[in-house]
Amino acid sequence: MSVSQSLPGRSPAAGTPMPIGSEEHKRLFCRMLLDSYDPYKPAVIDWPKLEPAALARLTSLPFWDMAVATEETAGRRMEALAGACDDPLIREAVTLNAFEERRHKDVLGHMIRFYGIKLAPEEPPPPAIDPMWGFIRTGYGECFDSFFAFGLFEVAKRSGFFPPELVEVFEPVIQEEARHNLFFVNWVAYEQARRGGIRTLGLGGLAFRGQCLAALAVQAWNRAKAARGVGEENFTSASRDNVGIDLSPKAFMQLCLAENDRRLSGYDARLLRPRVMPGLARLACRFLPEKKVRQK
Ligand SMILES: [Fe+2]
Ligand SMILES: [Fe+2]
Repeated sequence: MSVSQSLPGRSPAAGTPMPIGSEEHKRLFCRMLLDSYDPYKPAVIDWPKLEPAALARLTSLPFWDMAVATEETAGRRMEALAGACDDPLIREAVTLNAFEERRHKDVLGHMIRFYGIKLAPEEPPPPAIDPMWGFIRTGYGECFDSFFAFGLFEVAKRSGFFPPELVEVFEPVIQEEARHNLFFVNWVAYEQARRGGIRTLGLGGLAFRGQCLAALAVQAWNRAKAARGVGEENFTSASRDNVGIDLSPKAFMQLCLAENDRRLSGYDARLLRPRVMPGLARLACRFLPEKKVRQK
């Protein structure tokens, strides 16, 4: 994989105010995704040879089945929206988004084969759902998951949990998720504005708003269920035992926030940024106790 650290299409220029929902806004968020495409090829990734301990750590991570299934679902739902989309520019961008999700699955597939990771047989895909509803659900799901993935990736990097060559392989994949989030939140705001905006909601605007809130609630509930039972002490000892870094939940949240800001900082400042996860994380940080981060 050719790992690109400087992504083409990045433009930090702020420029003049831009009406959300305008043609200019649409062009900006679609071009952001299309012009920052990274043409790496999963089939030619030079997978690094791992020491036995690092290999055991990698193969015993419990989430590879879920990661593969999530990329498959994301790719399918994005293809469905692209197929139902009548705006050629948005269709082109969503088609690229779908292609990148398929490519993430491909990267994982190559890694799984190379390192001999055991997976359960892939489940048959669930029945297709409404393309708009599917895309919104996946979009919010990615906003939740990648916010934490940014922090976890940085923890794994600092602690040496993954060797630097493996971190380098996954860097473009993680950065692609940042681009997808940026595209998604701007697409939501654009679609909302086209349907009447937040203040002057017509019937279509209300229905879209309702879909977004419902998708947010479903994804938040799914994550809350997954996180149930992971208390502060469990989190701290798990992070220390598994990745060799002593990290409190508050320090981890702060790291996720910093990484989220860093990964989005290079894109055009006129584009809206994801707000839900950073907002929730900042709120959580106000209530979580202060604790020192100690790296082993
Ligand atoms: Fe993905
Ligand atoms: Fe994505």
